[in-house]
Amino acid sequence: MDNKQLTVLLEKMTLEEKIAQMLQLVVSYFVGSEEDGQITGPMESLGISEETVDQVGSALGLGGAAKVIQVQQTHLKNDRLGIPMLFMADIIHGYKTIFPIPLAIGCSWDQELAEQSAIIAAKEAAVSGLHVTFAPMVDLVRDPRWGRVMESTGEDPYLNSLFARSFVRGFQGDDLTSDVNRVAACVKHFAAYGAGEAGREYNTVDLSERQLREYYLPSYKAALDEGCELVMTSFNTVHGSPATGNRALMRDLLRTEWGFDGVLISDWGAVIELIAHGVAEDEEQAAYLAVQAGVDIEMMTSCYVKYLPELVRSGKVDESLIDEAVLRILNLKNKLGLFENPLRGADPLAEEEIVFCDEHRAVSRELASKSCVLLKNTGVLPLQPEQRVALIGPFAQSKDILGPWSWLGAEEDIMPLDKAIQEKITSSNVFVTEGSGIDAMTEEQMQEALDIASHSDVIVLALGESSPMSGEGGSRSDITLPEAQLQLIAHLQTLNKPMVVVLFNGRPLDLRGVHDQVDAVLEAWFPGSEGASAITDILYGDVNPSGRLSMSFPQAVGQIPVYYNHYNTGRPKKESEPDNRYASQFLDIPNEPLFPFGYGLSYTEFKYGEMVLSAEEMTSDRPLQITTTITNTGYKAGEEVVQLYVRDITGEVVRPMKELKAYSKVLLQAGECKEVSFTVTEEQLRYHHYDLSYTSDAGEFAVFVGSNSRDVVERRFRLLK
Ligand code: BGC
Repeated sequence: MDNKQLTVLLEKMTLEEKIAQMLQLVVSYFVGSEEDGQITGPMESLGISEETVDQVGSALGLGGAAKVIQVQQTHLKNDRLGIPMLFMADIIHGYKTIFPIPLAIGCSWDQELAEQSAIIAAKEAAVSGLHVTFAPMVDLVRDPRWGRVMESTGEDPYLNSLFARSFVRGFQGDDLTSDVNRVAACVKHFAAYGAGEAGREYNTVDLSERQLREYYLPSYKAALDEGCELVMTSFNTVHGSPATGNRALMRDLLRTEWGFDGVLISDWGAVIELIAHGVAEDEEQAAYLAVQAGVDIEMMTSCYVKYLPELVRSGKVDESLIDEAVLRILNLKNKLGLFENPLRGADPLAEEEIVFCDEHRAVSRELASKSCVLLKNTGVLPLQPEQRVALIGPFAQSKDILGPWSWLGAEEDIMPLDKAIQEKITSSNVFVTEGSGIDAMTEEQMQEALDIASHSDVIVLALGESSPMSGEGGSRSDITLPEAQLQLIAHLQTLNKPMVVVLFNGRPLDLRGVHDQVDAVLEAWFPGSEGASAITDILYGDVNPSGRLSMSFPQAVGQIPVYYNHYNTGRPKKESEPDNRYASQFLDIPNEPLFPFGYGLSYTEFKYGEMVLSAEEMTSDRPLQITTTITNTGYKAGEEVVQLYVRDITGEVVRPMKELKAYSKVLLQAGECKEVSFTVTEEQLRYHHYDLSYTSDAGEFAVFVGSNSRDVVERRFRLLK
């Protein structure tokens, strides 16, 4: 259809039909079973008529080609104008082939593989009948108490923006109309959902305009610049107004300033929640506020269908607002080619072949092995096949390694760690026991653990948080490992054997009682469908770990938020004045995180050569070239992530101590040396000034190159204007 035909269609629609397009219902309304969908919010009784259900614009959480085809065909019979439905779902890190959680993908620093994971997720989802995924989530995160940090790629606006683009490209491709293997992406949660106070789920967000623009907004903008079709509102407040009814955020910023003309959808129940927030007296006012803000689709509550018709008829809401919203929805349907091809990619036969195929699983394995971060290693890793290994811990045999938001990932398809290790080496060298549950340990479990450990050469502990301990609704105030697992470490430590900990979890943890007690720590996150094999490859040295943290690990929970791109303060702590009480510091812990942003070890060593600047001064016409050499001085091939940071020494407003501006992943054979070059342009030195204008300052800058945000070499240069 062309635009004119869409307008003609709109003109044919009754007011009720238009408003039904603006409603999204969970799948159980169409297939009669809640089990078919993923329920992520309260199920309120919606008080809507069957007629509305027949005309509804979109459904949430239905997967499987046969079911989608059946629901779409029934809908087309019932809908007077035959407007096809949109099928949307949370395909967050894979459809059935589950990839590592997004935080782990963030640690891969691998844009190509991230894009590949989205291409595969889209392909599996599209053949199963879906049109839209509620991804990527690009919320910047600084508080690991929040369970949804697992869904983010981390704490850095630049890295998050790159991933935002990769995911959107992967999901959508170049042309949604002709390429039925892709799905439309919905960037979320707009805006700043990651900044909830104290990391408590759904909590208040109160940020300055500067913080918002500098840190939180760039990744959403990057997704939109990549052509992302939809935006989802966040549950939280922004400048005192809940995002879902926030006109300044949605109309002035998103639509006018950024020019977004795609579909804006509320989060689950976020329209009715304007009442609980205390900005709407009732559902009618909630509908009024959301539609004024420009929310096109109301997810899972019925304020729009119940109250918008009367609000329009009484003249309180201009019908042009409704027309605008419906046109955007129809336009999305049209872009997806649904008017010509309402079943689009849905194909039960192809689904059988494509979903969870070997090729997809191989990519998941590769991405998992690139996402694991080696946090500590005194030399115990890699293991040797002839070593007798005691594999102990609640994750030794667990299939709970997919992580939250792996809706269609099936545990029966999962190989647990013990099986993966037994497959790799002679199984007579592996002795396995649980040792403890996630949060409880019996005397027998402990004795059995001590028994098998005492007959082994090395102990591998598979520990962590179960998947419900992170994800949505998974905030925790204490982010240490549960006491039973700490006890397990303490008991086994009495044997004085080399100990390796493999961690399965969805957030940076407070690792007291872990990293200080053992010889090696491998952060495996929730690694997805092929995670156990990927971890085994690393444990036995077939893969050299190359993951680098995209979110800092705190020394202790009380240090949170701790992130690398912070300001200096007026009284920074100085190494030269360790006894100065009146410095910005804690009395009991260092200021630095335990493991900083960008950190991760390898089985080999990388040596950085001298850092050479093309000049000591740069201008907007003469960017700066920074060159260094990296040598693999070890005995194994390995990948280094060479990172470049910048600091504006004197700004009009305070500037971060370091900002990631570029990085390069370099594969080096043992003994190999490569030159790595970066260009720093004037544009990269811009920031929001006091009046929020976005420009750069002439003056002195520091540039840092190194293997993480802490271990860097520094040089200075000047920007001339
Ligand atoms: C989550 C969203 C998700 C939606 C639909 C909400 O509770 O916040 O991220 O897309 O549910 O499942």
